[in-house]
Amino acid sequence: MCKDDGQIESPRGCESRDDLLWDRERLTDPHHQPDKADRVRGMFDAIAPTYQLINTLASFGRDASWRRQAVALAATTSQDRVLDVACGTGDLAQAFRQRAGRVVGVDFAERMLALAAAHAPRRQNRPPAIWCRADALRLPFADGTFTMTCCAFGVRNFQDLDVGFREMYRVLRPGGRAVIVEFSMPENRLLRWLYGFYFERMMPRLATLVSRDRTGAYRYLARSVVAFVGRGEMVDRLRRAGFTGVACRPLTLGVVLVYVAEKGS
Ligand SMILES: C[S@@+](CC[C@H](N)C(=O)[O-])C[C@H]1O[C@@H](n2cnc3c(N)ncnc32)[C@H](O)[C@@H]1O
Repeated sequence: MCKDDGQIESPRGCESRDDLLWDRERLTDPHHQPDKADRVRGMFDAIAPTYQLINTLASFGRDASWRRQAVALAATTSQDRVLDVACGTGDLAQAFRQRAGRVVGVDFAERMLALAAAHAPRRQNRPPAIWCRADALRLPFADGTFTMTCCAFGVRNFQDLDVGFREMYRVLRPGGRAVIVEFSMPENRLLRWLYGFYFERMMPRLATLVSRDRTGAYRYLARSVVAFVGRGEMVDRLRRAGFTGVACRPLTLGVVLVYVAEKGS
């Protein structure tokens, strides 16, 4: 199901989940829950209405700049056909749309995608973005469809990271690039402690209060970042998926990492 900007209908029959999806037991090992994908989808459908507000507040307004820097690092041109995987409310897709030729966003959370379509700014000199409801682990596109695949703050949520990377690789044409933006913990020990205090203790409480979340989304956010693979393993796994020339650039003291990788021609 793919539609142009503004054309995804508000979901009907899509129940918002506000039960506790991430309890203490599941948070001990969030990446190895057999039903992680269902929990992730339910959680994002539940927090969709306040997702962008909390992003801006929790990152002190840095999140828009992280996406802009990712677009710049990707050396995007008007010839690019970009697939934004796990596009959520569409912020990275919109940042790409200012430079790229065509932009398609996919996400499996219907409420996030509905907001992406509803909020999309209309620019007469740019083709509209296309929004598709789809699973990043089974992308509904032929091999080699895009010149660029990107994913911001999404890969950490995948049920299977390697399958996600292989799909991002498969739909790229030879010579194409992948850009992945993901949270990380700073390497410096003092910074790591200070950031950990904010990110694991203060942020989940404040974000839960403001968003009135009951799913445990913001405790999951902190735990899923702390428990996620480090940059060395990310680079290895991108290479194992077939990518070459993998580079990693830290942003904002290393709390965000941008990976750029190539599909050999
Ligand atoms: C933290 S949000 C990031 C959204 C957006 N990329 C941004 O920069 O704000 C993560 C998104 O990944 C989506 N997601 C996670 N796993 C997915 C999957 N297997 N297929 C499609 N979307 C997925 C979620 O629904 C959610 O919208």
